[in-house]
Amino acid sequence: MTGGAGYIGSHMVLALRDAGEKAVVLDNLSTGFRWAVPEDVPFVAGDFGDEDLVSETLARHEVTAIAHFAAKIVVPESVADPLGYYHNNTAKARQLIECAVDAGVEHFIFSSTAAVYGDPDHNPVTEDETLKPVSPYGRSKLMVEWMLQDTAKAHPLRYAILRYFNVAGADPQGRSGQSTPNATHLIKVAVQAALGHRNGMEVFGTDYPTQDGSCVRDYIQVTDLAQAHMDALNYLRSGGDSITCNCGYAQGYSVLEVIDVVKNVSGVDFPVRISGRRPGDPSAIVAGNARIKSTLNWQPRYNDLKQIVQQALDWERRLHNRKAG
Ligand code: UFG
Repeated sequence: MTGGAGYIGSHMVLALRDAGEKAVVLDNLSTGFRWAVPEDVPFVAGDFGDEDLVSETLARHEVTAIAHFAAKIVVPESVADPLGYYHNNTAKARQLIECAVDAGVEHFIFSSTAAVYGDPDHNPVTEDETLKPVSPYGRSKLMVEWMLQDTAKAHPLRYAILRYFNVAGADPQGRSGQSTPNATHLIKVAVQAALGHRNGMEVFGTDYPTQDGSCVRDYIQVTDLAQAHMDALNYLRSGGDSITCNCGYAQGYSVLEVIDVVKNVSGVDFPVRISGRRPGDPSAIVAGNARIKSTLNWQPRYNDLKQIVQQALDWERRLHNRKAG
């Protein structure tokens, strides 16, 4: 798996390990952490664009399935550095897919994103909706979806493309969580504000056409998302056709609602400043999830925003103590 030392990848490592599966992690530690991968899981420090390293790793560990998590994921950063995003997320992914084909790897699970939909005309959005990404980030991922589709027609490789909505929360056992510094994601930012690790927070826009004017998103808990990958792996192994699935709960919360939940769960009324819209934000995006439930038999266990926020708070405290200690 690539990106196994990152936020979502590290939860997948735990899911695989808990299920007694063998895994090998390839990660260049640009945003991930070595400590996020348990010592008993083989770890290769390096880049997924390094053809020789990837081929050698696939052969040495007799890899039969790849889950590709490694990517740059910050939408505003992609607007400022499109070529960096197309290099890392698109060109290097092409390389990785080629290595997979050459090594005879038959199953490929790809971390895609709700950003491929752009600002959808209606919600919940289904997988067959017109794709019109508005950011280089969304486009960099959509091109990989296309490469996988074409590759699967030409070679014996089947894929599961998983389009993540807004990922949040942490491992319920406290073994991993969102650790990247300089967080931009709403729940992480709000939790840091609640714990006094930052001086309040901003709401980017309250003039959207939503119930309270702030943006609406579908927040999926990270262990449930890792389980979606496990379900996709089992589906492909049992002969399932290539598939593209949304990963979300089909439930939207506004930014102001999320902040209220963080204030209630933490018991802290931190300062919130209303500011202007953030460029590139769709007003509302909520996942239609009928396909992942029926085809992969995915059954979410942590669909509860209060619980997600509690996990994020617990992890943030742990992370803070780790740094202090
Ligand atoms: N927001 C704030 N204040 C903050 C941070 C965020 O108001 O300090 C708002 C944003 O403007 C947005 C919402 O909270 O309206 C959610 O923002 P995030 O940055 O948490 O997440 P995004 O929806 O922008 O993007 C995330 C992932 C993308 C993915 C997308 C899919 O970062 O990779 O979800 O919906 F594509």
